[in-house]
Parts: sequence; structure tokens; C-alpha cells
Amino acid sequence: MHLLRGQRKVVKVIIATSMFWIFIGFLFSSSQHHIATAILRPSIPCPTSSNILQEYPLPVFHSDQELLRHAFHRAIEGPPGPGHPRIAFLFVVRGPIPLEPVWTKYLQSHQHLWSLYVHPSNPVDYKFPPSSLFHEKEIPSKPVARISMSLVDAIRRLLAYALADPRYNNTWFVNICESTSPIRSFPATYHYLTNSHHSFVEAFLPDEKYQQWDTTPEFPISELRKGETWMQMTRKHATIVVSDKVIYSRFAASCSLWCAPDEEYFQTLLHLEDGAGIANRTTMWTDWKEPRVIAGSPRLFGPGDVSEWLFKEIQKKTREWDGLKQDSALDKSEFGMTPICEYNGIANSPCYLFARKFDSTTASAILDVISKLPGF
Ligand SMILES: *[C@@H]1O[C@H](CO)[C@@H](O)[C@H](O)[C@H]1NC(C)=O
Ligand SMILES: *[C@@H]1O[C@H](CO)[C@@H](O)[C@H](O)[C@H]1NC(C)=O
Repeated sequence: MHLLRGQRKVVKVIIATSMFWIFIGFLFSSSQHHIATAILRPSIPCPTSSNILQEYPLPVFHSDQELLRHAFHRAIEGPPGPGHPRIAFLFVVRGPIPLEPVWTKYLQSHQHLWSLYVHPSNPVDYKFPPSSLFHEKEIPSKPVARISMSLVDAIRRLLAYALADPRYNNTWFVNICESTSPIRSFPATYHYLTNSHHSFVEAFLPDEKYQQWDTTPEFPISELRKGETWMQMTRKHATIVVSDKVIYSRFAASCSLWCAPDEEYFQTLLHLEDGAGIANRTTMWTDWKEPRVIAGSPRLFGPGDVSEWLFKEIQKKTREWDGLKQDSALDKSEFGMTPICEYNGIANSPCYLFARKFDSTTASAILDVISKLPGF
């Protein structure tokens, strides 16, 4: 379209005038925003409020950054809460936990040695009924998608709430999914974790297809590590996770194709920050053996697969021969990753405390089995 000189001038004036008003509007709305924030700040409700906030006075967090910063300061400034060291179980779930009867039996009569935190993601405001073990254990949550930073964020939120909780002396942090079952009694698990010199974070150099993204300048690709999302870590390592910004930003910016954030972020971070402090293995057993692996997921056990024999077999394992580390690039022994399970430097120690994946109909079969095992 051709405009005459006069028309062009009019257009310019109109553009200039509208820019002026947009600018004024921006100034006004942002200053209003500051005023509103200043006035409302103490009482702005959390986007998804939760009962856990009613139980103890936690400051209100407007963002994950604020939550993480608070948890970090709590972790380095003060001692943890009072009492016996506890294991904080961090449940990353969609909604209901079908294996709840199993957890109830497992945890009963050890109330002073554990704490529970649940991040429900579908729906995010899912509330457990008053009769539930998980009632009022929900933390403010956000939606989670598989193989994405949103799962990393959910785990970081759980770690932060458990670290910052002034009620309890939380010293170990165990993440659990809805298809997880314990395979040893609580006292045995407590003893195993609280006496361990290392966190259980599986970490191996993944094969070449995972090495195609730009990890520099934060770290060289040779330091990339991969492993199960399901980890068991000390307070020291949980504190490293909530304080990290550098490695997180690199993953958020560049980890997409052939990169599973939840299986690489924590593993790489803890390998970089304290490689000698992690056992490079997990205590969560999973059956990754072919041909039962379907669409990249490990074997799913139904009620017919659950037996005393299976649980005892998992308890007896002292080696990881179940297809784990199938993506590993290197000779495992070279990187301190032999399939032999070590515990405080002792080779051929029992590897596992938990197992997955059990489907939603297995609760009564598992209850039957664990009732026959000592310690439950
Ligand atoms: C909290 O747990 C730690 C072990 O992680 C222990 O050293 C400390 O004494 C415990 N605190 C209290 C108050 O018992
Ligand atoms: C874990 O592997 C790293 C190498 O990637 C090694 O330096 C470290 O010592 C291993 N951890 C243990 C407890 O052996």
C-alpha cells in the first residue's frame, strides 16, 4: 500500500501516540504492581495452598526459587528439627496411592523415625481423606509430565519442604512413586540408610546418543551422569540439590532431545559436587531385563507375580544383574560402577530396600507376603 506524505505523517503520529500511551500504561501498571505487592505481600495465598502449611508456620512462597532459598538457609543456618533422626519419604504421585495399606503396615509403630511428604500432580489439589496415612501430608504442587524438568521441580519441592520442616530431624530423603513397595522391614531399612557413608544415587556415563547436547561451560560432557530417578540421599546432598542454580539452568536451557532431566540432572549435579559421596547405585530394585521392558518402562508386576519367593529373591540380591545401566557407555569398573553392590566399602552386600513397579491391584498380595517376613 502506498501512502502519501501527509498520510505517512498521520500514521507516524498515531504510532508515536500509541507508543507513548503503551509506555505510560506499562509504567502505571508496573508501579501499581509494586504497590500491590508491597501491600499484599504478607497475605498473598500460595497458588495451591495445602494443609501442611496449617500444621506449622512456614513462610508463604511465591515461587519455587523462594521455597528453595528458604530451604537452603534453614539447612545451613540452623540444626534440623528436634528428636531422633528421621527418614523423610517423598511421594511423587498423581493422586491416590493404591499401595497405601502396605505403607501403613510398614510404617506402623515407628512413628518417631519417619516423616511423609506428598506431591500430588493430577489433580494438583488432590487431598487425601482424613482416614488416610497421607492426610495433610500434601505440599503445594504443580503439574508433572514424565521425562521433563517438571519432575525435577517436583522432587526439588519435596526435598525443600522436608529439609525446611522445623518439626522433624529429617536426615535421609527417599523418593517414592505410587508403584513402589518396601521389600525389607522398616527397622532394617532405617539401619541400612542411617549407617551408610554414601547416598544412593545411581550415576553412570550414558552412551553416545545421550551425549549430543551442549553442557559447556558448566561441565564437560564426560561428566554427564544418568541413573534412576528413585534415589535415597543424605541431608548434605539434599542441601546441594536445593542450593544449585548453575547446573539446573544448563539442564533447563539445553537438555531436551536424548536427555531425560529427572534421570540426569540430580545424578550429574551430585556426581560433580560430591562424586565420592554417592554410591553410584540405587536401593530401588526394578526389572529392566528384556523382553519384559515395554515402551521404555520396566516390568510391571501384577498380583499373580507377587510372592514370598519374589520378595526374598530381591532381598538376596548382591549384584545388579537386572538390566540396570543398560545405557552405560563405559566399562563400569573403570568408573567405579561394578555390578557388585558395595555397602560402606564391603563388596557383595545386599543391594535393595525397595522395589517397583507394582500395579494398583497388588496391595493385598503384598500385604500377605510382608506379613510372613520378619520385622514387618
Ligand atoms: C538429629 O539427627 C542427627 C543425625 O543425622 C543426630 O546427630 C542428632 O543428634 C539428631 N538431633 C537430635 C536433637 O537428636
Ligand atoms: C562413584 O563413581 C565416581 C566416578 O564416576 C567415583 O569417583 C566414586 O568414587 C564412586 N563412588 C563410590 C562410593 O565408589
